[in-house]
Amino acid sequence: MQIIRTLALPVLLAGFGAAQTITGQFDCLPAGGFQLCQNVWGARSGTGSQQSTLNSASNTTVAWSTTYNWANGPNAVKSYANVLSNAAKGVQLQNVASAPTSWNWNYASQSAGIRADVSYDIWFGTASSGQPATAASSYEIMIWLSGLGGIQPVGSQITTGTSIAGHTWNLWKGPNSNWQVLSFVSSAGDINSFNVDLNDFFKYLIQEQGVAPTQFVQAIQTGTEAFTGNATLVTTAYSVSLVSK
Ligand SMILES: *[C@@H]1O[C@H](CO)[C@@H](O)[C@H](O)[C@H]1NC(C)=O
Ligand SMILES: *[C@@H]1O[C@H](CO)[C@@H](O)[C@H](O)[C@H]1NC(C)=O
Repeated sequence: MQIIRTLALPVLLAGFGAAQTITGQFDCLPAGGFQLCQNVWGARSGTGSQQSTLNSASNTTVAWSTTYNWANGPNAVKSYANVLSNAAKGVQLQNVASAPTSWNWNYASQSAGIRADVSYDIWFGTASSGQPATAASSYEIMIWLSGLGGIQPVGSQITTGTSIAGHTWNLWKGPNSNWQVLSFVSSAGDINSFNVDLNDFFKYLIQEQGVAPTQFVQAIQTGTEAFTGNATLVTTAYSVSLVSK
């Protein structure tokens, strides 16, 4: 039996194949229950490049990394390399029973003075479906697990040290295009191992920030907004699901 197991292991590993890398400005890659996208939407505000690699993927969990070198335009976002869940969407906030998520990440390398966040980007709207950052969007909810180099979210800070889901956050609020942005920024530095129920944030937004419980979760993305610097950000495991009542 031992011999069979030893022989079987490489076959299982080969089932996923080699890691796949994307380099184009708006390249995307199917990634099990997710989609990995480069999303280098702000390239014109600086100079540099980025590539993103899918390391493993299943219906529930994805592992990936992104490597970037960005200079100039220190206050402008160059990119949001991210994974989008194919399944965690289309549920009205009042019908969410739970939204468990787990994200383990680290910087494999990082230049001095890097300006970047590591963040969820969650989109709400009045319709059950809608693409992120479009006319269908009512709210953009960011959760910053890291914000390095003095960068700030959209708008202005409206709370300090707010406790949600076992962590403390400074909440920022402001408009962008046709939607409102609410950004929870970790007030205790980087959170490299994040295991929470996102519904704790959704309930807070309804009870304390006037978000209508009839809003639908339209998309949940996780990734990194890079401003300037060179880094490789590695997600060793990420999962999210949206459970209806
Ligand atoms: C993965 O998801 C697809 C589409 O929802 C489903 O058909 C398939 O059974 C799932 N596979 C596993 C192993 O859960
Ligand atoms: C980033 O990488 C580029 C290209 O390798 C290099 O020229 C630049 O000096 C690096 N910047 C920092 C801040 O390390």
